[in-house]
Amino acid sequence: MANETNIFAALIAHCKEYGYIFQSSEIYDGLAAVYDYGQNGAQLKKNIRDEWWKSMTQLNDNIVGIDAAIFMHPTTWKASGHVDNFSDPMIDNKDSNKRYRVDHLIEGFAEEQKAMGNEQLANDTITAMDALLAANDYAGLKKLIEDNKIKCALSKTCNWTEVREFNLMFSTQIGSVAEESETIYLRPETAQGIFVNFLNVQKTGRMKIPFGIAQTGKAFRNEIVARQFIFRMREFEQMEMQFFVRPGSQMQWYEYWKTERKKWLESMGLPAGKLRYHNHVKLAHYADAALDIEFEFPFGWKELEGIHSRTDFDLKQHQEHSKKKIQYFDNDIDESTGKAYGNYTPFVVETSVGLDRLFLTIMSLAYVEEKWTKEDGTEDSRVVLKIPTKIAPTKLAILPLLKKDGLPEIAKELMDECKQSFHCFYEEKDAIGKRYRRMDAIGTPFCVTIDHQTKEDSTVTIRYRDTMTQERVKMSEVKGLVLGKIG
Ligand code: GAP
Repeated sequence: MANETNIFAALIAHCKEYGYIFQSSEIYDGLAAVYDYGQNGAQLKKNIRDEWWKSMTQLNDNIVGIDAAIFMHPTTWKASGHVDNFSDPMIDNKDSNKRYRVDHLIEGFAEEQKAMGNEQLANDTITAMDALLAANDYAGLKKLIEDNKIKCALSKTCNWTEVREFNLMFSTQIGSVAEESETIYLRPETAQGIFVNFLNVQKTGRMKIPFGIAQTGKAFRNEIVARQFIFRMREFEQMEMQFFVRPGSQMQWYEYWKTERKKWLESMGLPAGKLRYHNHVKLAHYADAALDIEFEFPFGWKELEGIHSRTDFDLKQHQEHSKKKIQYFDNDIDESTGKAYGNYTPFVVETSVGLDRLFLTIMSLAYVEEKWTKEDGTEDSRVVLKIPTKIAPTKLAILPLLKKDGLPEIAKELMDECKQSFHCFYEEKDAIGKRYRRMDAIGTPFCVTIDHQTKEDSTVTIRYRDTMTQERVKMSEVKGLVLGKIG
């Protein structure tokens, strides 16, 4: 059994052992901050993505989904500001050559101080850091590090370089002939694929403002400090929605999406007490308001989703760089003037959640180690993933008690009936108790056992993952029962 401090390490090991997440290119000793999803992880990730897609595009009749390419015209990133502004202030330790993100280094120091009871110093340091970051005062940040004698974790020295900016975008070449090739970027956010398609979607979909365009897909960032498993990766997946609104109404929609998105996260099983809002002090170059919905991860409160009021910045920038008019004609009547709103560049409220981060929240809540005393006085234990039924990778395990007497044939009949409707797993090897434990460990909410009584009265035993209780039900009712729980 893991204790509080190593529960996160136990979760990472569990993800590997049960086919959820592997280190990328593990046989070559791995690639830092890049991960592969295994057979169970890929299915869980798809189920989370499907829930998001449904909640956006099916449950909102004014939101549609697209799938834009990862490669985009290089001018996109000039227009969006990413070429010039998408960077983090970093600092290197001259003795160890280890590079740190300045905010992470200072936050780490503040956390240490807090743990030592120096709450006031911790809070003052964070307040000072926020102000310096907001003012882009890099000399001030270096001074803050030096004044507090913040040391490198490796060299234990305070010998720092100047604070410098590093762009986070990955670049590559497009074109087969070297001389004719052009530098392009791997997108650092999916949002720009939505902005450049604004007119295509608005016109072909005859969308009326307010409306949204949603998209899920890979994004790439050359994170210098990548850590905490899949929390901060170099290749990750975003689920973003840009909501286009009338200028002046953006704060009302910002409030709306702030509330809606927290509600949705709660509907995915995240307890309200583990979610909180954090308003940005330093706003991104495109925003007039921004906040994070933070989650209490096993390693502390961290950003899970961003809600950003992006003004008309992106559409206007693309209009300027492409020389194509990107506007919307609003023929609704403005009651204050009695005239139609007419032509304008819409404002945008964005919701942006990392799929991998959401996956991590769900896994960290689901992972439970249980211990109990049995009726005969002996101890028993299990590791169980209490993943919400609607997103569990496998819904039902179908287990013949024995590999003979016609029990596998009956089990396969049930498998054929159920697999059209939800993901099932069939297994006949090992003792039944061992098979139940394996299903607990991968988070399968229901197991059905076919035994000799099944042959007599067509009933089976259904076992519930979370309570481990069992009951006898008619085999013909199993599919409906599971479907009812998924719904
Ligand atoms: N389009 C706006 C945007 O990209 P962001 O706050 O940089 O905003 C949005 O990213 C979300 O994407 C974050 O809240 C986080 O969940 C996820 N994300 C960002 N960088 C990530 C990384 N390196 N690894 C995993 N997820 C990341």
